[in-house]
Amino acid sequence: MAHLHITAWVLALILFFVARAFYKKESKAGKILHMILRLDYLLILYSGGSLSTDYFAESYMLGELIVKMLAGIWVIASLEMILVKTAKNKPTKSFWIQLAISLVIVLVLGFGRLPMGILPN
Ligand code: HEM
Repeated sequence: MAHLHITAWVLALILFFVARAFYKKESKAGKILHMILRLDYLLILYSGGSLSTDYFAESYMLGELIVKMLAGIWVIASLEMILVKTAKNKPTKSFWIQLAISLVIVLVLGFGRLPMGILPN
């Protein structure tokens, strides 16, 4: 499940940058890639939710876990807002800042603190 989770969010980052590039060119491909990205959000939520159940079952590291879950949702929200604003030619700077903050939180907690992933501890 950790592998599915990582695959899903790496794919999301790739789809995000490609969709953004197409939106900038005002190409229709931007919309299509954006829709695929939205389906991939579901995969991130499903795999993240599934990983979370083990923590809840054991009542283990719930503080870190809940911050990780909220920050993960915040990453998704930032990606979505950047694309929607890019499509409308509106400013995106505040959402890039939010993306940077939320991504750092999620990577530090996911790889650094929470013990269940693929890296050896
Ligand atoms: C795009 C958003 C997200 C990113 C970039 C992300 C990133 C990560 C990373 C880097 C790990 C560590 C994997 C490892 O140690 O092998 C991880 C694990 C995890 N993620 Fe996410 N995540 C995201 C969204 C979510 C969401 C929305 C949830 C919950 C609904 C969630 C729940 C979890 C859980 C429970 C783990 C297992 C923690 C562990 O023991 O390592 N994630 N995620």
